[in-house]
Amino acid sequence: MSQKHPRISKAVIPAAGLGTRFLPATKATPKEMLPVVDKPAIQYVVEEAVAAGLDDVLMVTGRNKRPLEDHFDRNYELESALANKGDAERLAKVQESSDLATMHYVRQGDPKGLGHAVLCAAPHVGDEPFAVLLGDDLIDPRDPLLQRMIEVQEVYGGSVVALMEVEPEQIHLYGCAAVKPTADSDVVQVTGLIEKPDPAEAPSSYAIIGRYVLDPHIFDILRRTEPGRGNEIQLTDALQQLTQNHSATADAAGGPVHGVVFKGRRYDTGDRGDYLRAIVRLACEREDLGPDFRNWLKRYVAEEM
Ligand code: G1P
Repeated sequence: MSQKHPRISKAVIPAAGLGTRFLPATKATPKEMLPVVDKPAIQYVVEEAVAAGLDDVLMVTGRNKRPLEDHFDRNYELESALANKGDAERLAKVQESSDLATMHYVRQGDPKGLGHAVLCAAPHVGDEPFAVLLGDDLIDPRDPLLQRMIEVQEVYGGSVVALMEVEPEQIHLYGCAAVKPTADSDVVQVTGLIEKPDPAEAPSSYAIIGRYVLDPHIFDILRRTEPGRGNEIQLTDALQQLTQNHSATADAAGGPVHGVVFKGRRYDTGDRGDYLRAIVRLACEREDLGPDFRNWLKRYVAEEM
């Protein structure tokens, strides 16, 4: 691999949000720890990073997020209690999360937005491309999106976002990309970005979903990015600046922005309705729980709906 495209090894997971949509569950428990079936949502995200070859994971946390650190650490008391009982199956489940990756933590003192959270990762990431995974989006491991984004970054350089087509009335919930095609059918060049546009202003129906592979030049831009939508420093605005720099000078520092168009299975755990749907879908597909649960669900829908 050329020096221009060093192998990506670091993942950044912003996890400082207050989770107010899930109160009171999130009063004393981070929203990232809410179970999706029987695993905390955040563990799916770390597993996805590891499956894409990123075993150095930095979580950007805040106050009240200690349970995240504990979850990815050893728990000797619990481990020895399970070992003494001879419960190897549960012992393996406890050890799984602490053996996954090399975990690092940094605190985002002030919650000044996603762009600011990513900027908190600058000292850890240094001068190499890196991935960002947002915890509200779960991507089915059978549809490996992040691997594809890393491949695309290695070919095209610059930064890569994950895009998904959504209904026009949904676009105001996402960052939206103006795009043009490339020679690869699942890859587009991003020519502009706008954070949570009104449907009338949206340049397309391509929404950014929570996966990014970023050129480290993004940090310089984020340092100069003024608060935008919601008075927060927006990652989308910094990426928009990269697209503008690139269109002004093709070899501008930071390179182009491309999008991988994702058509696979994505589960949203960001609000209560989506969270419930994610749990039902994932539970139905589980080999151990699925058959019983699906039978019950069919009966429930037939009798109660
Ligand atoms: C963030 C980003 C937005 C992106 C979304 C994906 O918004 O700012 O551009 O489309 O994640 O989930 P949030 O959902 O955190 O408000």
